[in-house]
Amino acid sequence: MASPDALKPVLTPRGWELLNSLPEYDSASSAALNAQLRKEGWDPATVAAALTQSRLRRDAQAKFGEFASRMLLTPEGLQQSTRLAVAARHARRFRQARLEHVADLGCGLGADALALASLGMRVTAVDADETTAAAAHINLHPFPEAQVVHSTAQEWAEEYLAPDSHIVSAHSAESRFKDAGLGLWLDPARRNQRSRLWDPEEFSPPLSFVTELASTGIPLGVKLGPGIPHELVPTDCEAEWVSMDGELVEVVLWFNALTRRNADGAPVRRAATVLRTGVSAPGSTPASAELATPSDFGDGARLTASGPDGLSGILWEPDPAVIRAGLVAELCEQLGGRLLDERIAYFCTDSPGSGGTPLARGYRILEVMGFSAKRLKQWCAEHEITSVEIKKRGVDVVPEQLRKQILPKRPKGQPKAAGHHATVIITRLGDDRLAAVVQPLG
Ligand SMILES: C[S@@+](CC[C@H](N)C(=O)[O-])C[C@H]1O[C@@H](n2cnc3c(N)ncnc32)[C@H](O)[C@@H]1O
Repeated sequence: MASPDALKPVLTPRGWELLNSLPEYDSASSAALNAQLRKEGWDPATVAAALTQSRLRRDAQAKFGEFASRMLLTPEGLQQSTRLAVAARHARRFRQARLEHVADLGCGLGADALALASLGMRVTAVDADETTAAAAHINLHPFPEAQVVHSTAQEWAEEYLAPDSHIVSAHSAESRFKDAGLGLWLDPARRNQRSRLWDPEEFSPPLSFVTELASTGIPLGVKLGPGIPHELVPTDCEAEWVSMDGELVEVVLWFNALTRRNADGAPVRRAATVLRTGVSAPGSTPASAELATPSDFGDGARLTASGPDGLSGILWEPDPAVIRAGLVAELCEQLGGRLLDERIAYFCTDSPGSGGTPLARGYRILEVMGFSAKRLKQWCAEHEITSVEIKKRGVDVVPEQLRKQILPKRPKGQPKAAGHHATVIITRLGDDRLAAVVQPLG
């Protein structure tokens, strides 16, 4: 963790002014800027702290957009923080549940807290780390309704949620929290000084602390790594896997009043949310698509078995959020498709439908052949293919190695020959290994 001393020089009025007066950070000119500022009489510690913050603000733009230019950051805090567009979606869920006050227990630099405060909710942002809490205090300064507390989540909960010095019984807690319009948000730290942690009981605070809070009935959302094994996901929450621009970023477990219900009133248990924007301001809507089901994991796969012609028409590669949420069969059903195999996350439809779906990438199948490197090599030669994208599922193929095997060898020192590009998908249908030459849709 960054030491509180590292931030001190920029927390003085002059240091803060210096930081905000710096041009956008540029590695190439940072040494010259450092020398110039010291020549102007600035002390080395202030210059170093200001330049470090300036670099972190530049790096933070990808997550926080223009907000980054006003924030106080630490390297660890930035690495662990939620992208603002994703935080905005968390905040919207609290607002839709009509909660007025959210306690963010482990607020980090305050990305989630910022999004909650931006939507007009009162926020109590708690962090166990002194430097991080100081940074969150600065970042939340524009919101008078946001308060930062330097404490552990456990101590805070003990004091504010448990009048009898222990987390109160489910019944009394429920009515108490309803009255207060209070919800909880947690984003436990999932790495220690050395490495990433995988056991949810090693997270800080641990998952059992979170589920104990949730068992009181309080509306609660907790962000976890998307790779959490399905068997560790509690059965009484909505687990929402989220991807941003094709990258799986998190799973959020929503408990109690924050769990959504489907049209029949049944609580949603698994959901996939696919976001397709860069940074957007809190409150704005990133382009998104969702798929949700009230079914638990392990509901028997609903398969439309494919015959030998199963690999035809349009092949769909679901977004990682759909795959991780175990919703491939549901998406396939929704699009009127046929799964190739119970364990392979591809399915086919006869036509692209109207406008496709943001939940999967579609490929028009142009040609299908039995898979062998020799056969593909021949096909590439016949079609003058000089570059190829290889995708695969359910077959033991290393695309980089296969590419070398099937493309014509270029004699050393010779420029790349002019040729065509192809996309090839290799998969399994029953016992057959097949290669499909495809064209990405739109
Ligand atoms: C993953 S970060 C939170 C990031 C935050 N949601 C954001 O988007 O900026 C986790 C934070 O929890 C804090 N933390 C770890 N253990 C804690 C505990 N027991 N109580 C309170 N905060 C804790 C860490 O200091 C860290 O800042």
